Amino acid sequence: MSQPDPVPDPVPDAENHDVENHDASTVHILMCPPQYFGIEYEINPWMNREREVDHDVAITQWEALRDILNSLGAAIDLVDPQPGLPDLVFTANAAMMFERRAVLSRFRHSQRQGEERHFHASLETLGFDVLELPDGFFFEGAGDALFCGKTLYGGYRIRSVARSLQAVAKLVDREVIPLELIDSRFYHLDTCFCPINAETAIWFPDAFDEYGQQVLRSRIPDLITLNEVEAIEFAANAVVVGQHVVTNSGCPQLALELRSRGLEPIDTPLSEFVKAGGSAKCLTLRLDGEDAAA
Ligand code: ARG
Repeated sequence: MSQPDPVPDPVPDAENHDVENHDASTVHILMCPPQYFGIEYEINPWMNREREVDHDVAITQWEALRDILNSLGAAIDLVDPQPGLPDLVFTANAAMMFERRAVLSRFRHSQRQGEERHFHASLETLGFDVLELPDGFFFEGAGDALFCGKTLYGGYRIRSVARSLQAVAKLVDREVIPLELIDSRFYHLDTCFCPINAETAIWFPDAFDEYGQQVLRSRIPDLITLNEVEAIEFAANAVVVGQHVVTNSGCPQLALELRSRGLEPIDTPLSEFVKAGGSAKCLTLRLDGEDAAA
């Protein structure tokens, strides 16, 4: 595995909270304020440069999400926003976290590649051991790599590539189930699949090929199926904090399903981020390990 050159600029990108200071049981989340968020390019079907982001609304929506997560007991660390990197707000794509390790993303699109060194610096400042994949191994972090129980599920084809998922699984010594994503609207795994605990996950089946659907059905006993209307409200892009499931607003059917299982849905409007193809989960990275989330 090629090790990168050390990141040259020592300026820390994250608030200087050492992760060791957090209680082991604390839910720990990385976010990035949306100062420079906007639609400056188009790399997924949601993005349209003509559909501009309302900046003030984006800031209000982001702060509301942060406050909800805070109120659920999550400790939030921040990446410093950077001009010219409008998608840096989507910290789910920084890396895949596993214990003290962070497997850094290698973005497929050049427009996002500049984010890598900022995420690298932030994660290092926070005390993580940052691992890098070789050149050409596209991998978009927790956007495409989610644990359900002990098994790692990986989305590939649109952003990450299958061989990256194998390499990541090897780095963390876990079994990986690669799932081909076939609908460009659901270009990251976290847009169509959300593990809630070892037995339960939210999904939108049509985003997967026949084989992927079969594997998920055979492996996860309780799959909550989204209808298309809620899938395109990014209902699967949820942040799970204990029994709470935080999503974009506009997912009433999912809320019913969650409540019937004793879970607590919380919704908050994230329409400005949907314009970029992201929602609650994309705006967060679970630093205490993707596997801790479910
Ligand atoms: N505009 C961003 C992109 O296309 C959105 C990323 C959403 N992140 C996610 N984890 N699904 O890359």
